[in-house]
Amino acid sequence: MPLTQTREISAATRLQNVRYAIRDLACIADEVTKKGHKVLPLNVGDPLNFDFETPKHLIEAVYKAMKDGKNGYAPSSGIKEAVDAIRGEAERKGITNIQDVFVTSGVSESVDVCLAALLNPGENILTPAPDYPLYSAVLAKLGIDLNTYELNEDDGWQPDLLDVSRKITPQTRAIVLINPNNPTGAVCSRRMLESIAELARRHNLVVFADEIYDKLILDEDEHISLAAVAPDVPVVTFGGMSKNYLAPGWRIGWGVVSGDPAVVKPYVDGINRLLRSRLCANHPEQYAIKPALEGPQDHLVSVLKKLRSRRDLTMKWCNSTPRVSCVSPRGAFYAFPRIDIPESDEVFVKELIVKKHVMVVHGSGFGQKAGTQHFRIVFLPDEQTLAKAYASIADLLRERYQ
Ligand SMILES: Cc1ncc(COP(=O)(O)O)c(C=O)c1O
Repeated sequence: MPLTQTREISAATRLQNVRYAIRDLACIADEVTKKGHKVLPLNVGDPLNFDFETPKHLIEAVYKAMKDGKNGYAPSSGIKEAVDAIRGEAERKGITNIQDVFVTSGVSESVDVCLAALLNPGENILTPAPDYPLYSAVLAKLGIDLNTYELNEDDGWQPDLLDVSRKITPQTRAIVLINPNNPTGAVCSRRMLESIAELARRHNLVVFADEIYDKLILDEDEHISLAAVAPDVPVVTFGGMSKNYLAPGWRIGWGVVSGDPAVVKPYVDGINRLLRSRLCANHPEQYAIKPALEGPQDHLVSVLKKLRSRRDLTMKWCNSTPRVSCVSPRGAFYAFPRIDIPESDEVFVKELIVKKHVMVVHGSGFGQKAGTQHFRIVFLPDEQTLAKAYASIADLLRERYQ
């Protein structure tokens, strides 16, 4: 008689802390779609779901690379012309003391590699709350406990420096700063960056400066790289093609390590060891990096025009809708409105999918401050679609809580 395995194959217990609410909600949306409804996806920060297009000259660069036979493995750190272009861009942003540059499968893989290369069991890194869930997912995978610092809603979602200081322990190795921020849209001032750098200096921390939205600035602020104000501090600055260059599906991101060479050397060696073990990032897509960073930036004019108009519409709705308030986003394409409701934001968001066919992400999916309720909205759709979505959200708020 043939043997059949009957005992359940359990997943690793450390995965219990892996949450990715942004995509987890999709299961509910699938059910609604199966019933014949169209769900508006305001949950995923993908501009290509809406009226944005990858710049043509970048598509041509990738196509040409494929036709030219650039279809084998690439060097583990990335092709030379891309690495040079990333270095050049970092220097234009005022980053000096650059010790390493590497290309990865999106910033997601940079984060995965950089955290894995740094952390031993029992150590921790400071991550923002609310956060972009990639960080907590990677930490869960590594079996590292979360240590979060608060972003202060009453201070335009700036990092709460007192809380950062309070949370640093002898086991803390790094701090994550997402600027411009996902999910809040906040942008840090030079003073804030200097204060974070000073804490890193004093406590021997690495700073992970996630600047993937650095060209999507909606007000007059200038985007300042943290590494540019602190050349002596060990910083890994993350950037990529997904947002600034409208090509998230290409899975191209990078890291730039800066700081004192003697201090960062062992860490850079560790990162490269891991980079080699995963072979390389997508090869032909890397040929779009140089034309992206050094070629015409015309697409950004229309992208920013659309985003500003859609941000303004979002704020107008937030300011005029009962139970809703919101800090105005200054960068990226997310708003994180607060909602004053007598039940959890998760229940509200699920109801919104089922009843109104609009998908946003609940604030609890981002590890928000206990006792508060929010949702994150992606304000990428055109004005007409957004206005319709906002009317539906207002309707549900009225129907459920009046
Ligand atoms: C703050 C932040 N970091 C990293 C990522 C991941 O980007 P990538 O597509 O380069 O993996 C995202 C994607 O939404 C993000 O918002």
